[in-house]
Amino acid sequence: MEIIRIPRIMREITKDLRAKGKSIGFVPTMGALHEGHLSLIKRAKQENDTTVVSIFVNPTQFAPGEDYEKYPRDIESDKEKLQKMEIDYLFLPDVESLYPQGYSTYVTVEGLSDKLCGKFRPGHFRGVATIVCKLFNIVRPSRAYFGQKDYQQSLIIKRMIDDLNFDIEIIVCPTIRENDGLAMSSRNLYLNEEERKAASVIYKALQEGEKLLKQGINPSDVTLEMLKILKKEPLVREIQYAGVFDPLTLEEVKEKQKRYLLAIALKIGDTRLIDNFIVELN
Ligand code: PAJ
Repeated sequence: MEIIRIPRIMREITKDLRAKGKSIGFVPTMGALHEGHLSLIKRAKQENDTTVVSIFVNPTQFAPGEDYEKYPRDIESDKEKLQKMEIDYLFLPDVESLYPQGYSTYVTVEGLSDKLCGKFRPGHFRGVATIVCKLFNIVRPSRAYFGQKDYQQSLIIKRMIDDLNFDIEIIVCPTIRENDGLAMSSRNLYLNEEERKAASVIYKALQEGEKLLKQGINPSDVTLEMLKILKKEPLVREIQYAGVFDPLTLEEVKEKQKRYLLAIALKIGDTRLIDNFIVELN
């Protein structure tokens, strides 16, 4: 595994690979790697000649007062994990090389960015779209891999790819979970033992939501049931959203349809957690 810190050098390497007809699989991350990240990397390795992983804690996607400063950074253990996976390149830029003095260009995917998480994290998806656009222009991958765990993010990236004519295939991979169903996340490291136990309520509410939708219960009633489950957990401090949404528009769904997005964002202690299921009826 080669570690590349300078965007210009990363560009040159992938330009040469492309010229040789090699496909490039790319997995952008913010590090503190867990099995969720590793599942995307495994898939990228299977489907491409060359695999590039980036680690960059992107300041522009953290709203003021969020956890940019204290976001978990463990580069040594990340490097070890990537080495074991035998990836080809780790792209590890610093903030100054991606956002130098005078930086002033941002990418906004309108509409979708204001729904769900966007309501509670102003500017978040503008930061995500901007950094992913920059990373895509540097790496110019054939395929890029994202997790369903951040469903809204993957939808916004797909919209950006179509709207800005990127020639990149976006592949969304299933959410990897702990034994009790909690979706793996770098932010799970913030939870104490008690909070960690309580966090499995998110998965329970999603499971119940799925079951009820499959039984033909009306989406508005399903939302109420999910909220009931979440509210019973005393450590849940703030439910930002929870319920049944449209998987394409992210609008709340009140009437029956064929496909649903069940999505939850809440705080346990000071830690914000999200998760979702896609439910498809036959
Ligand atoms: P990060 O939170 O590090 O996640 C990197 C990728 O791993 C994302 O595509 C995310 O959806 C995926 N992922 C996280 N947890 C997962 C899980 N439990 N199962 C499957 N996939 C999972 O998302 C970001 O970083 C950033 O916003 C980024 C896209 C890198 C832009 O800065």
